[in-house]
Amino acid sequence: MPRPELTTYKKLCTEFYDLELKHRSETPEALAFFTDYARQANGPILEPMCGTGRFLIPLLQADFDIEGFDASAHMLDALKQNYARVSNQPAPAWQEFVQDFDNQKQYNLIFVPFGSWGLISDLETAKKGLEIMYRHLAPGGKFVLEIETVASLPQPSGVWRQITNTRADGSQIALKILISYEPEKQLFKSLCRYESIVNNKVLATEEEDFYMYLYRFDEMDTLLAQAGFSHIKKYCNYRKEPASDPNTPIIFYECSKE
Ligand SMILES: C[S@@+](CC[C@H](N)C(=O)[O-])C[C@H]1O[C@@H](n2cnc3c(N)ncnc32)[C@H](O)[C@@H]1O
Repeated sequence: MPRPELTTYKKLCTEFYDLELKHRSETPEALAFFTDYARQANGPILEPMCGTGRFLIPLLQADFDIEGFDASAHMLDALKQNYARVSNQPAPAWQEFVQDFDNQKQYNLIFVPFGSWGLISDLETAKKGLEIMYRHLAPGGKFVLEIETVASLPQPSGVWRQITNTRADGSQIALKILISYEPEKQLFKSLCRYESIVNNKVLATEEEDFYMYLYRFDEMDTLLAQAGFSHIKKYCNYRKEPASDPNTPIIFYECSKE
């Protein structure tokens, strides 16, 4: 039986996300970080959960042998439109869930940026996903993963916040967001309401409940080792400074398949 549709990253969310990321100041540093791994890979690269192509597209333009997949049809459509602006080739990206992925191919580098892994909010499914990543890694290959920890919890909880992004035509998308956290399940929830506002009128709305599993400081070390990965290194930033502070909000893992 096919897996049900993803209940998040629908139309307005995708549009908001794509506009929001254009303003993110850390994107160039993040791109340099992943480009460095791509250079060392010397072979096929995979970006699961590739979204609208923030990393995939510049890496394709730099002539790396990279492909990606994402569970959201809307995010993939946006990726294809973004890629069509810079290339007349079809984008090497398809719709797929991490937990269902099986294409018999092995990659020299697999990377999952931007804390996306936590969106696989059921821990057993996330463990299965790590095993799938391991299986698709070529011997000697690297898996690079960015996760958010329990120390990343945004504040304040229980208060509605609003962020607005403006489209090229001057109309707007507003996001109203209410966050909460279940510490015993390490589950962060954001209730998101998107509004498309044209000429001061709300013309469309969309609601999504995002769940994100936040990892304890050492938790992913164990899960990666259980999935078979070795040479596990963890950094606290794109400059690859070691992650030694248990209160670090984001951890960048680099590990290998022997
Ligand atoms: C925060 S976005 C990040 C996209 C991209 N990596 C970036 O940094 O711009 C997370 C992406 O993960 C995708 N996603 C969520 N759960 C997924 C799953 N189980 N399998 C595959 N993709 C998933 C969403 O559709 C979304 O595009």
